[in-house]
Amino acid sequence: MKKKLIIYSTTDGQTFLICQRIKEILNEKAQVSLLALDECSENDLKNFDQIILGASIRYGKHKPAVHKFVELNRKILEEKRTAFFTVNVVARKQNKNSPATNPYLKKFLNATSWNPDVSGVFSGKIDYPKYGFFDKHVIRLIMYITRGPTDMNGTYEFTDWKKVEEFASELN
Ligand SMILES: Cc1cc2nc3c(=O)[nH]c(=O)nc-3n(C[C@H](O)[C@H](O)[C@H](O)COP(=O)(O)O)c2cc1C
Repeated sequence: MKKKLIIYSTTDGQTFLICQRIKEILNEKAQVSLLALDECSENDLKNFDQIILGASIRYGKHKPAVHKFVELNRKILEEKRTAFFTVNVVARKQNKNSPATNPYLKKFLNATSWNPDVSGVFSGKIDYPKYGFFDKHVIRLIMYITRGPTDMNGTYEFTDWKKVEEFASELN
């Protein structure tokens, strides 16, 4: 049975939830492990046939650790089957929700020069009550400008779970 590793970089947990759903689907045909990026060592990577990395966006960027991970493990990533996906709310827009059109995905792959076998883009979640004062107001302003939800009492999940499931099936 193939061994697959899913690695996540999350701040508020939505990328983790997406990874959990992908794991459930991959589990049907493979032995799947799920690890946080900062728990993952080079030795872990060697033991798997396929490596899937998912990371979310905050203020226009994936965490520096995501870039570093690709940089440090470039050789092993090139030897394995790999996939990368990004989670952000720009992706709720139809014209920014694919690998060819999402600015964060394009920027990340350009910056790292990594060429994963499969790449994906998922829209995330806005959870106003969870955010601190500053983040709440900045996000609200961005939502106002981009015609998103601005009620600061609300939680808005934009993730298209069917798309997540299709992505996971592609990895099978
Ligand atoms: C402080 C903050 C900044 C964010 N900045 C961006 C951004 O620049 N672009 C974007 O598309 N989404 C942005 N988002 C939305 C997140 O990408 C979205 O909430 C995602 O679901 C977070 O995933 P996570 O829960 O795995 O961390 C931001 C969210 C927060 C709370």
